[in-house]
Amino acid sequence: MDNEFIKFSLVMLRLTCFLEAPYLFFHFLEDEIKKLMAKHTQKIIIVGATSGIGKILAMLYAANGDMVAITGRREKLLDELKNIYPQNIITACFDITANNLDSQLKNLVNELNGLDLFIYNAGYGDTSPDLNIEIENTTTLTNVNGFVNAMHFSFNFFIEQGFGQIAVTSSIAALRGNSWAPAYSASKAFMSNYAEGLNIKAKRLKKNIIVTDIKPGFINTKLAKGNRRFWVAPPQKAAKQIMEAIYKKKRIAYITKRWWLIAQVLKILPYSIYRRLA
Ligand SMILES: NC(=O)c1ccc[n+]([C@@H]2O[C@H](COP(=O)([O-])OP(=O)(O)OC[C@H]3O[C@@H](n4cnc5c(N)ncnc54)[C@H](OP(=O)(O)O)[C@@H]3O)[C@@H](O)[C@H]2O)c1
Repeated sequence: MDNEFIKFSLVMLRLTCFLEAPYLFFHFLEDEIKKLMAKHTQKIIIVGATSGIGKILAMLYAANGDMVAITGRREKLLDELKNIYPQNIITACFDITANNLDSQLKNLVNELNGLDLFIYNAGYGDTSPDLNIEIENTTTLTNVNGFVNAMHFSFNFFIEQGFGQIAVTSSIAALRGNSWAPAYSASKAFMSNYAEGLNIKAKRLKKNIIVTDIKPGFINTKLAKGNRRFWVAPPQKAAKQIMEAIYKKKRIAYITKRWWLIAQVLKILPYSIYRRLA
């Protein structure tokens, strides 16, 4: 009886090994690829990394061993981050709407000695119930004009190089117009459409360039305003999901992932209902 049991166990063991071999081999390969990817040091520029989502992204990439150039207007905050990761972070303090943007970005690429990933995360937005012209103009200058100039630089750089990745932080607000922050939602829609346009352009030119459109819902930063917020995520969680989406070279990523559901509803909600909410 014992012998039969041993024989039966051996047969079962061999069968299991046979069936699981492709699965185990696949996982072995996946682990090896991950290790190789982890060893490849990326050269990254993050525009808008002094606080919120951009700051955490910079810290995660730097901790990962990547070389990260971070920008923003608050020099002290840039220096604080550099002091934490002196080997992996370089800084440049400038306003994204300034005229010398091209040369600022060129300097950073030179300092990094190349560029693999360009993240446009800078953004401005505020509620504008009285259609305050300062809010509307600052929003447009930051999210549209500064953005276009940054895209012009990075996309053309990658075209010449033949490869690269751009990630832009738009918003779930890009999906529909909003009466409380009209310039913000319109400027984010501009970013999303621009990102899609660049993806098509890269494909047509047969260049290995991906543009990832990051669409966050509510993230707990100083920019998130309003008292009807829900599903508010910590910036740490948002940044991790953004990194994953960039790594997977996604074209569009909702952050956090559950905002995909809201996006589907927003896309089909009739105007007669939507106008009561927005
Ligand atoms: N928080 C949310 O709920 C939410 C939701 C959807 C989308 N987003 C988007 O996520 C991105 C990051 O925002 P956040 O929530 O992390 O807010 P945040 O902490 O205010 O970060 C905004 C970043 O943009 C930079 N910036 C703004 N204007 C700039 C300018 N003129 N020149 C250079 N840098 C500028 C800021 O740096 P300096 O002030 O130092 O210049 C800062 O580093 C924004 O594009 C925002 O629209 C946020």
